[in-house]
Amino acid sequence: MELTKERLLFVDSCVSTHRSRTRQLCDAWIRRFRKEHPGAVTDIAVAEPGVVQPMDRESILLRNELIQQRDWEAPMFDLARQFRRADYILVGAPYWDCSFPSVLKIYIENIVVSDLTFRETEQGYEGLCPCRELTYITTAGGPVGEMDLGYDYIRGVGRMLGIRNFREYRAEGLDIRGADVDGIMAETLEKINHG
Ligand SMILES: Cc1cc2nc3c(=O)[nH]c(=O)nc-3n(C[C@H](O)[C@H](O)[C@H](O)COP(=O)(O)O)c2cc1C
Repeated sequence: MELTKERLLFVDSCVSTHRSRTRQLCDAWIRRFRKEHPGAVTDIAVAEPGVVQPMDRESILLRNELIQQRDWEAPMFDLARQFRRADYILVGAPYWDCSFPSVLKIYIENIVVSDLTFRETEQGYEGLCPCRELTYITTAGGPVGEMDLGYDYIRGVGRMLGIRNFREYRAEGLDIRGADVDGIMAETLEKINHG
């Protein structure tokens, strides 16, 4: 009997003009994950225009029809099925305008599907995703403080979809003049590798 392999889903939203520092932290996290879960399969969803489409009138109507037919194999649900299959999820996104790049919101629109990743009950939403832990990694130019709206939002949606455990790593203040960028990155990498 073949045991089902664990699956990691990396939602890569590291849009950048340079060698993304968010992506560097994500790579380190994935290396550690692979050491701790040697047999795990990694799926990658690159949240970028073209891969994900914003929902509009046409796509909402089509989606409603497919949900009614319970046609879960439809290509429109590829990302939602991939999300539901994951045992662990890593979301990597730079801190933009107090949250994250808008394309990540579009990705979320694509995976929140009634009766596939969550369902509505009389008691409220019931998540259908068995993911054991979602990790969120971000880097910010300035201080984040209480305004960690990207992580708060991802946690909110994750809870709706059934995820209970969340973890965040963030490196902040990277664009402040005179910042010790290497030091801040090294400190965050240390937390990722040993924390
Ligand atoms: C479009 C855009 C919006 C940004 N918004 C913020 C912000 O609201 N607060 C902040 O501290 N830094 C902001 N930054 C700076 C980035 O958070 C910072 O440079 C980050 O490290 C970029 O990650 P990367 O190296 O992975 O691209 C913004 C950068 C861009 C390009």
